[in-house]
Amino acid sequence: MHPRNIYKTPPNFDNLRKLYPEFAEKIQVDVNGKIKLDFKDPEAVRILTKCCLKKDFNLDVDIPSDKLLPTLPLRINYILWIEDLLIHCGIKEEIIGIDIGTGACCIYCLLSVRMNHNWKMFALEIDKDNVSYAKANISRNHLEEKVVVIDQEGSDDIFEKLFALDCHQKTFTICNPPFFGSVKELTQGENRSGKRKRHFSPMKESLETVFNEGGEIGFVTKILNESLVLRSKICIYSTMFGCKKNFENFLILLKSYKIDSFTTTEFVQGKVHRWAVAWSFSQNLSDFAKDVPHKSRNVILKHVIDNENFKEVHDQILKVLNELKISKKILKSENGKLYQYELESTENTWSNQRRKRRAENRNESYDNIGNTSAQKLKMGFEINMIDKSIQIKIFFVEGNMPKDSVNQVLQFIKNALNGK
Ligand SMILES: C[S@@+](CC[C@H](N)C(=O)[O-])C[C@H]1O[C@@H](n2cnc3c(N)ncnc32)[C@H](O)[C@@H]1O
Repeated sequence: MHPRNIYKTPPNFDNLRKLYPEFAEKIQVDVNGKIKLDFKDPEAVRILTKCCLKKDFNLDVDIPSDKLLPTLPLRINYILWIEDLLIHCGIKEEIIGIDIGTGACCIYCLLSVRMNHNWKMFALEIDKDNVSYAKANISRNHLEEKVVVIDQEGSDDIFEKLFALDCHQKTFTICNPPFFGSVKELTQGENRSGKRKRHFSPMKESLETVFNEGGEIGFVTKILNESLVLRSKICIYSTMFGCKKNFENFLILLKSYKIDSFTTTEFVQGKVHRWAVAWSFSQNLSDFAKDVPHKSRNVILKHVIDNENFKEVHDQILKVLNELKISKKILKSENGKLYQYELESTENTWSNQRRKRRAENRNESYDNIGNTSAQKLKMGFEINMIDKSIQIKIFFVEGNMPKDSVNQVLQFIKNALNGK
């Protein structure tokens, strides 16, 4: 939980029940006088959320029972991370945010302007009902001067209508994307994190809230593609991910577009994990990703080979990866001149092989002590023909092996290509 999140200390149920009779109706008091709330009851959680918004943010929000119920600590973590980024970049004035897919409660916008008196927000929403609920929630709290809803109906683009209405530069985007790509995925598939089977709860999420053609990764890729055209018309683009795999693939995508100015974070609340990434094209923010709290940037290692046959080099690298027991998944291939892979290893075979060779040279027996089964290393890898040169790129994605392992793998590949 972010250190400035007010819910680092859980809400005081005793206070809430005294202030709000509707909350008092939803709690149980056990024999020891301890107040309990049934978190499995969506209606009880909806009332708790409403009461917390009223008490802690002076927000009167209508949360329709058939719409997505926003969990507050997670959303506050995201807003606080944006605050951190803006502080880090020295952006203090004229802050204009965009919430992409604001939902019925317009939650990010309402919280954002209550937590930051100098912020204004644009709330983008495509669903007709959500647009009217969002507008009603804004006017109920007299925030029309601070939050403007953009009805996206009829627009295939994310930012087209917004910039047609107001062409000025905006400061940041925030986005909790629609997560499922198909109704089948929604009703039968895995849960948001991609791990367990999920059960659709109509009380918590309406179809249009969570459904988007292309799913989470399709939606955020659309934001990324539009950002490549708009560039510094928005200082900082950011989005959240519910699925770690999508988050990881998105980082590879950013790197493949040579967007090095990005930073990431993870929001953790109990068992719920979410990931977020922010990227920028603004020249004066080119180091915005440096030293940001929760930063996680990885160096891209490069190697260039001149005057060699691309296919032979590519085949040789694949053979080396095989020998090293590094599994690969192809992410992109173009005209036999560019390949991108996700590499995964569960064993440090490269330094073990070096030790093994040294031991063999000294006629000593090799003891395979270094192998521990719980190791993991995930890397991004690209081989690309540029003019007459072959460029190799490799970088750390995640894992518990030291980041220098990536350097060692590259060194191993280089040695193999040099016939050592
Ligand atoms: C997962 S919900 C997030 C709602 C809210 N921001 C929250 O965090 O509680 C995604 C929202 O995106 C909206 N949406 C889907 N496609 C959109 C588009 N092209 N433009 C704007 N909103 C869109 C959906 O209707 C839905 O309200």
